[in-house]
Amino acid sequence: MSISKRAGLFLAACLVAPAAFAQTPQLGTKITEVDVGAWAITVLPDGTNLPKGSGTAAQGAKIYEEKCVACHNTGGKGGPYATLVSEAPLQGRGIEAPKTIRNFWANATTVYDYIRRAMPWPQPRTLSDEEVYALVAYILEQNKIIEPGTVMDAKSLPQVKMPNRDNFIVKFPDKI
Ligand code: HEC
Repeated sequence: MSISKRAGLFLAACLVAPAAFAQTPQLGTKITEVDVGAWAITVLPDGTNLPKGSGTAAQGAKIYEEKCVACHNTGGKGGPYATLVSEAPLQGRGIEAPKTIRNFWANATTVYDYIRRAMPWPQPRTLSDEEVYALVAYILEQNKIIEPGTVMDAKSLPQVKMPNRDNFIVKFPDKI
């Protein structure tokens, strides 16, 4: 085969190739709004995305005993896993200082988001929205952040002022 003939074949192969690449293996299905909705559960500091429903600490205490106490101890005092209720200040050991919901977390809405998406650890996403409100109320009340008996819902939760909220340096204040 002459060089020019070979070059011609190569050129022809190159021209055909894009059509071959355009074919897909036809795997998977298109994702729908409903599918995305099930995972788009991020709650923002201002309460955006908080669901309907409400809960109190009294309701939360019962759920806590059933689903949380094994890992977070009586009253959330910690052990074997994270301490949920503590009045220990954020001090000592620099960046390693033990951080808790009370001494560190900036937004009460994050407590809701965290519990709803991640707890109880072995069965995440099994709590109802109301159960999460009740557990948040329980943890915030035990931490003396809200008045006893305060009902937590989409309106009251974003208004809770966390003790450490003003101690963060906000990089993009206009994005809050
Ligand atoms: C099987 C053990 C287990 C159970 C049950 C469990 N948790 Fe947890 N929890 C964990 C672990 C592990 C972490 C992560 C600890 C860490 O980051 O150091 C955690 C972290 C948390 C945190 C974040 C604390 C922080 O300051 O970072 C919250 C809030 C929380 N759990 C709430 C709950 C609630 C409410 C329940 C009950 C519905 C629950 N957990 C049940 C194991 C558990």
